[in-house]
Amino acid sequence: FGEVLIAPSVLSADFARLGQECDSVIEVGADLIHLDVMDNHYVPNITVGPMVCQALGDYGVSVPIDVHLMVEPVDSLIEQFAKAGASFISIHPEATRHLDRSLALIRDLGCKAGLVLNPATPVEVARQVLGRLDMLLLMSVNPGFGGQAFIPYVLDKVAVARQMIDEAGLAVRLEVDGGVKVSNIADVAAAGADTFVVGSEIFGARDYGAVISQLRVAAEA
Ligand code: DX5
Ligand code: ZN
Repeated sequence: FGEVLIAPSVLSADFARLGQECDSVIEVGADLIHLDVMDNHYVPNITVGPMVCQALGDYGVSVPIDVHLMVEPVDSLIEQFAKAGASFISIHPEATRHLDRSLALIRDLGCKAGLVLNPATPVEVARQVLGRLDMLLLMSVNPGFGGQAFIPYVLDKVAVARQMIDEAGLAVRLEVDGGVKVSNIADVAAAGADTFVVGSEIFGARDYGAVISQLRVAAEA
């Protein structure tokens, strides 16, 4: 697979000090900053919009911003986040009437395109659009909140997705989001994931760097 990337989710960071929280994880090895965008419509919670993505870039966040859009409808926000400096933009299939068109739009705007599948959604949904993807993101919790428990059956989906990507011979990153911890990341990596979103495990710790190092060592083992 691709090299291991650790993407701290700032959903569990101190939002009043968001720029410094990003610096703190980047200094100790974060590869991406995962930004969870929620609209109280697609998911029952609300977070931040494109202005905050822009602000993080202006502040000087130096790693790619991995935007996870949990909003419906999604197309106008794809445009706004692309303008606001997002690197990856990932969308849920239920959030657009025309998935192929929305994914194409992400790349047309110069960003890397991701498709996010909820725990109960089969990997098969990704098959026809695999050629439009830079990232396939499998949710291992129901989206909306940090700090939930990893749903074990998603490991089987990771293996299915890994096989699909490898058979297609495409350079699509395979990311897992939700309940990933030092204690289970080795299993998620063994199933075939190469990119790991981790929120509460990092930002709930006193020493972010120690957790990121342990995550990377376990994922690379
Ligand atoms: C949930 C978000 C996740 C979440 C992960 O809707 O997509 O990114 O913040 O947080 P943890 O690692 O705490 O499950
Ligand atoms: Zn997320």
